[in-house]
Amino acid sequence: MILVTGGCGYIGSHTVVELAKAGEKELVIVDNLSNAKEEVLDRIRQIVPVRLHFYRVDIRDEEALDNVFSLNPIDTVVHFAGLKAVGESVQKPVLYYENNISGTLHLMKTMQKHGCKRMIFSSSATVYGPGNEPPYTEDMPTSATNPYGWTKVMQEQILRDAAAADPQLCVALLRYFNPIGAHESGLIGENPNGIPNNLMPYICKVAAGKLEKLHVFGNDYDTCDGTGVRDYIHVVDLAAGHVQALNYIQKHPGVLTVNLGTGRGFSVLDIVKTYEKVSGRKIPYVIDPRRPGDLPICYANADRARELLGWTAKKTLEDMCADSWRFTERNL
Ligand code: NAD
Ligand code: WQD
Repeated sequence: MILVTGGCGYIGSHTVVELAKAGEKELVIVDNLSNAKEEVLDRIRQIVPVRLHFYRVDIRDEEALDNVFSLNPIDTVVHFAGLKAVGESVQKPVLYYENNISGTLHLMKTMQKHGCKRMIFSSSATVYGPGNEPPYTEDMPTSATNPYGWTKVMQEQILRDAAAADPQLCVALLRYFNPIGAHESGLIGENPNGIPNNLMPYICKVAAGKLEKLHVFGNDYDTCDGTGVRDYIHVVDLAAGHVQALNYIQKHPGVLTVNLGTGRGFSVLDIVKTYEKVSGRKIPYVIDPRRPGDLPICYANADRARELLGWTAKKTLEDMCADSWRFTERNL
């Protein structure tokens, strides 16, 4: 059986749907609900028939986690649970190291105790740091510019070391680029509390009339229109990549490191224009100074995912914006 940590969250919930669509009839979810709501589980059940065994458990709680493994024959973990806000990680580094690193260590100890040998881990394009030139390939050196990014670099290292020590361990380090969009049903998506840090949730709140205007962070980068360029990937494509990665690691012990991106970059203003087109809403914006720590351009080389997993992103920028808007209209 598969355990999904952080399965009530944005990417986790979409991955649960894709796993169920791929034939998993029963799944275990562990989430402390620090950044999600339990009602997501009912939404998932409305999309796809699946039995979900939910435990409101913090993965740092070793005893509670051990109990989950004792009650369920878990052979695979898809590990999303973690804190992810870059700015907050600079303000609260200890919280981030404690939650993300200790959480992963506890999870691995519990897996080891119960003989669970497969792990898919949510890494990030952030591990390419500022020293590499895009498109990013998986063999580039890793680094980070903030505590959140360092937690990803460190967790990758921990998992590589664990796999080196145990030849039966099968690990996938999936480096996500910029996930946006929502399930086409409009039932699940991303709806952060408070003022969003990331571009798409911010645009959604402007479109819904909850925020007045978008602040575009810099228009003096060396890019097509001066605004930052990113590799935006539809969250459903990203979720499907997990199913493919799972198929792969079942046959290949060791560590698979793979980018999940489209291989194509779009600017902030590309997103604004496409969102306006598909939603019919105006997105007013002002140009602000650059956000400290932002790179001008970030996009993947997506060859390895295609070659090893047979996976490529299928959805267009229009799909991403239209699905984000549908979720916004129905839920915000
Ligand atoms: P999310 O916040 O929506 O999901 C994370 C989930 O984990 C939440 O439901 C939260 O309640 C839960 N959680 C956090 N700490 C926990 C703990 N100690 N114990 C149990 N549950 C805990 O975030 P997401 O966007 O779905 O991201 C999922 C993973 O992917 C994260 O590890 C994140 O760092 C990584 N990632 C996200 C992005 C992105 O842009 N969204 C990009 C790259 C990598
Ligand atoms: C995208 C573009 C901004 C907000 C972050 C993390 C990264 C990964 C994905 C987890 C940039 C611009 C943004 C706004 C703007 N997460 N922008 N106005 O920074 O590429 O990546 O999320 O691993 O680690 O750093 O994503 O959505 O914040 O920004 O102009 O209000 O939009 O400058 O060019 P980012 P983002």
